Amino acid sequence: MNSESVVQYRDGQLYMESISLDSIAEQVETPFYCYSAAAIKARIGDCKSAFENIGATIHYAVKANSNLAVLRLMAEAGLGADIVSEGELARALKAGIQPQDIIFSGVGKRASELLAALDAGIFQFNLESIPELERLADLCKSRRRTANVSIRINPEVDAATHRHITTAVKESKFGIPFSQLDLALKRIARSDSLRLHGLAVHLGSQIVTLEPYEKACRRLREWVIGLRDKGHAITHLDLGGGFGIDYGDGRCLEYGAVATVIDRELRDLGVAIAVEPGRSLVATAGVLVSEVVYRKEVEPVPFLILDAGMNDLLRPALYQASHQLLTLKQSDEAREICNVVGPICESSDSFLQQASLPRVNSGERVALLQAGAYGAVMASGYNSRDVIPEVMITGDQYGLIRRRISHRELMEYEIFA
Ligand code: LLP
Repeated sequence: MNSESVVQYRDGQLYMESISLDSIAEQVETPFYCYSAAAIKARIGDCKSAFENIGATIHYAVKANSNLAVLRLMAEAGLGADIVSEGELARALKAGIQPQDIIFSGVGKRASELLAALDAGIFQFNLESIPELERLADLCKSRRRTANVSIRINPEVDAATHRHITTAVKESKFGIPFSQLDLALKRIARSDSLRLHGLAVHLGSQIVTLEPYEKACRRLREWVIGLRDKGHAITHLDLGGGFGIDYGDGRCLEYGAVATVIDRELRDLGVAIAVEPGRSLVATAGVLVSEVVYRKEVEPVPFLILDAGMNDLLRPALYQASHQLLTLKQSDEAREICNVVGPICESSDSFLQQASLPRVNSGERVALLQAGAYGAVMASGYNSRDVIPEVMITGDQYGLIRRRISHRELMEYEIFA
């Protein structure tokens, strides 16, 4: 599924499934996120057929979109979860994801979070440092429990993605360096509460070529063989997520291609494989619907000032990411070059620069595409704005799956005697 197919023009209106986005905007004040349940289910289906075909398990990276309604779709499809906090654990469990399908990642898991996950009986902890390993061992003792652990190792593979979302180069904070692997394994072998599963890697996000996965698989393969020679029973490998989607330049990674590489490089090791896709399951299924507050005529190009800002969709400001824009009413106006920005008092609050769009006027509504991942989850009330609602369409129905959190409600959390 590509991003265009989640919305289509019909009778001059932009539709998602069988509802026009304008008809929702008549009821739900803009800006709001809108997701297609069918599109998410289709991506889940693609992911399952590729990875289950090679016997791998899928653990949805909850951080990409942690709305309970989205998580429920993952649970209903039998997917597991990759979590990074106690909050994500609580959400995954509430949505019906089974504890035995949950992997806990993250560099800074606090004792209380490790305990919550231990008590829930999750499937695996991905350990990212020796001190974390020690802490988990102590907590297991105090709780008289055992934990399955994998070591997240930094494979030092450059995923050639944006520098803010690359995670496996030598300088990055993630994972245990190879030089400390022996120490970590010895420590696990000595513990009667930590049970070694194997190794985990995550190379970065929005990766659009296969090479990083090929390199990582080959490295993992050598390491598994070497570790087995030393007597360590390696039974599991977690390849992480990172599968890139098409943000409009036609570049993306197909699940099937990644699965083929993994299977080719690792099958004969006889290990259980896990993957942790986030973005690729939800990004193209969501849009951000917004209204043009003002069209501002200036030289050299006009500005379209949206009612959505960087507080609602942070990706362009943070990663210079670009999301495609469509008008909700099909336009036959001539194309022009313009800048599309938000209302926030920061120059980086800009969605598209020098974009070629049909002329758009004040009061018209637009949709920013590929907004289903790392959109709503990264939103804030910056500039004392509301935290915007999320809507999900299922067939010919739509429903709010998170209501607006108004600036007044946000003010109520402050202590002001
Ligand atoms: N596993 C681990 C350990 C991760 O850290 C991540 C993402 C994933 C899986 C899922 O990766 P995905 O399949 O979604 O690429 N906010 C950024 C992306 C940050 C990704 C962080 N880690 C963005 O909007 O591009």
